[in-house]
Amino acid sequence: MARNLNDIKIVPDPDIHHPESGSYEADDWQSETTSVASDLYRGFLENGRRYQTLRNAEYFSPADEQQFETYEVGHLAALLMNSDKANPLYCAPIKEPMHVLDVGTGQGAWAIDVADLFNARVRGVDLFPPPNSWIPPNCIFEVDDVLKQWTWHEKFDLIHLRHGIGGFSSDEWAFLYKQCYENLEPGGWFEQIEMDIRCECDDGSIPADTSRTTMKIIDKEFERLKNMRENRLNNDIMNYLDETHNKIQFRGICNPRGPHKKSLIHSAAMGDCTALLQSLLEIGYPVDDLDQNKRTPLSWAAENGSLGATKLLLKNGAKVNSLDDMYGSPLSWLDQAGDPKDKALQATRTYLKNNGATMKGAKRAWILNKLGLL
Ligand SMILES: C[S@@+](CC[C@H](N)C(=O)[O-])C[C@H]1O[C@@H](n2cnc3c(N)ncnc32)[C@H](O)[C@@H]1O
Repeated sequence: MARNLNDIKIVPDPDIHHPESGSYEADDWQSETTSVASDLYRGFLENGRRYQTLRNAEYFSPADEQQFETYEVGHLAALLMNSDKANPLYCAPIKEPMHVLDVGTGQGAWAIDVADLFNARVRGVDLFPPPNSWIPPNCIFEVDDVLKQWTWHEKFDLIHLRHGIGGFSSDEWAFLYKQCYENLEPGGWFEQIEMDIRCECDDGSIPADTSRTTMKIIDKEFERLKNMRENRLNNDIMNYLDETHNKIQFRGICNPRGPHKKSLIHSAAMGDCTALLQSLLEIGYPVDDLDQNKRTPLSWAAENGSLGATKLLLKNGAKVNSLDDMYGSPLSWLDQAGDPKDKALQATRTYLKNNGATMKGAKRAWILNKLGLL
């Protein structure tokens, strides 16, 4: 039965209204936080690097511009890994998150992107204030130690933690996970992404005498770090991860796509990176992979006078006269490109022609262009 409006008692929200000051200005997060003191920004300087001071020397990584840049690269790499997904920011099956927390937010790129994409309230927490001059209004950064008891009033439907490895001891991880689970809404998700800094290969194809050997120095450091701040997951979690783990090739991640649906093989062909091209073909990239305009790697190699890549692609069965959706063929792209006297272009043209390349489609493209239909 519908309730009578007169029965509903309206009371001030204690978080929003401050009866003692009579002020309506404070919002619900100001009641939990204060502004950041400037000595926190100054940090602690050692060997030319700046460190956070909230946990004294307890966290190993610097918090300075150089470090924030590496976090930015990590953020982009994570987006690239998930670029085959509609939402590359997280995998949890939450379509419209409402309350999101990013634990150890670093420079805050993930929190900002999530706040931009969703109509959610996103909090990013870290030991050092994230260095952002522009923050979406639904995003708030807080300086705090997540190893202290959490004081947020709200529960979260998504808690995200990325690259925390090395940051916490086993006991600290246990405390942190407990806090995360206790601060989730029913049905909420906790998502964590970690990486191993050592270079490994899932098919064992890294030869022993490559620069992999120099990694031994880092391996030692990593072991030391691991001993210092071990990230030991319990067996149940490890079994779950083993069961649910998909090889990245199965997820198509080896063929991430950029904004114009160009993939790594198009870029390798363009830049004449024959060794990379060879590896990509070996791991199964389609030799005639199509970008947004249905251009093939050979079309890009031709336009850029990338002779080595042209030879390799044709040797691997690339279609010499493929037509894209602008009626361009590899040869017609080459002919439109750059200085006709350019040696690389000339050599590539000769090679293409000797292998059956024609200007097929160019006339049609010219007519359609004149008619304004291209
Ligand atoms: C490797 S960075 C990752 C940053 C960010 N999540 C990303 O993916 O770009 C780890 C971050 O965790 C933060 N951190 C470490 N211990 C913390 C603690 N006890 N409380 C809050 N943040 C912490 C560090 O300051 C650092 O910014």
